[in-house]
Amino acid sequence: MLQDKRIGFIGCGNMGEALVSGLVLSKAAKPENIICSDLSTNLLEEIQQKYGVSTTADNMEVVKNSDIIIYATKPQIIGSVLKETAPGLDKSKLIISIAAGVPLAAIAAGLGKELRLIRTMPNICAFVKESATAIAAGEFVLKGDVELARAIFDSVGETVFIQENVLMDAFTGLSGSGPAYIFIIVDALADAGVKMGLSRKDSLFLSTQTVLGSAKMLLESKEHPGQLKDRVASPGGTAIAGIHTLEQGGLRTTLINAVESAAKRSKELGDLMVKDFIENNKNNG
Ligand SMILES: NC(=O)c1ccc[n+]([C@@H]2O[C@H](COP(=O)([O-])OP(=O)(O)OC[C@H]3O[C@@H](n4cnc5c(N)ncnc54)[C@H](OP(=O)(O)O)[C@@H]3O)[C@@H](O)[C@H]2O)c1
Repeated sequence: MLQDKRIGFIGCGNMGEALVSGLVLSKAAKPENIICSDLSTNLLEEIQQKYGVSTTADNMEVVKNSDIIIYATKPQIIGSVLKETAPGLDKSKLIISIAAGVPLAAIAAGLGKELRLIRTMPNICAFVKESATAIAAGEFVLKGDVELARAIFDSVGETVFIQENVLMDAFTGLSGSGPAYIFIIVDALADAGVKMGLSRKDSLFLSTQTVLGSAKMLLESKEHPGQLKDRVASPGGTAIAGIHTLEQGGLRTTLINAVESAAKRSKELGDLMVKDFIENNKNNG
């Protein structure tokens, strides 16, 4: 469904490149229909060579030549980029933000007009086409806009559609920030293996493969994690002894607290941003 759409990226760093790569390698979009801008000319040259897409240093050129524009700069910069590009935007274009913690209300305030807006929350696993991406739609989207966004983010993993106000902060706390928790868990398991005498290399491989295998088993068997846990933990065995220690250390409560803290922080940052963008617009008349 993206074949006849021109897709523009403003900012082509980590996430921008992951998306370009997903779209081109999965053939969801044609390279000749993709245009990217960035501050770094080296980065643009590299992206052009790797994926055969067009590049420019001019953000307005991206806006002019795209039906769908993906804002992929850091959240701290998105305010100025929205302001710079707003004059080239109208309702013929679909605007998608991947900026973490930037609410639709802030984007709308930053652009200062009624536009077709979509906010997404992908995660870093987009690099390996395994992102879990939440998609929320603004007030003025057209029929089919969410499907267009889904087609883009399906090229780097799995997508879910949500109501922004209720759930985006929860997604940010769980799947947006989640890879950081899992990386720490893998690192800690590797430390544990080293403590028990394994080499660092073997230990890291074993902990990573164990997380990968467990995730795959959950997805493929569709069994509840509790049921799978029961299949590992035999009576009087090793796994239940380890589980007892995890429960003593409060692993479950700690993870719940971590997601709650991250979601609260996402809301705090979002509220501040809405306030800032509205203030900014007032001050600029
Ligand atoms: N990384 C993640 O895990 C993750 C997960 C979910 C969502 N996100 C969101 O994805 C967005 C991008 O993150 P990222 O990790 O890809 O950041 P990144 O690697 O820093 O990429 C952003 C790119 O935008 C460029 N840029 C800066 N100002 C610009 C401007 N005025 N016009 C055009 N390009 C400009 C930057 O160039 P310079 O480096 O030269 O400044 C950089 O190459 C963020 O909003 C983030 O919240 C990231």
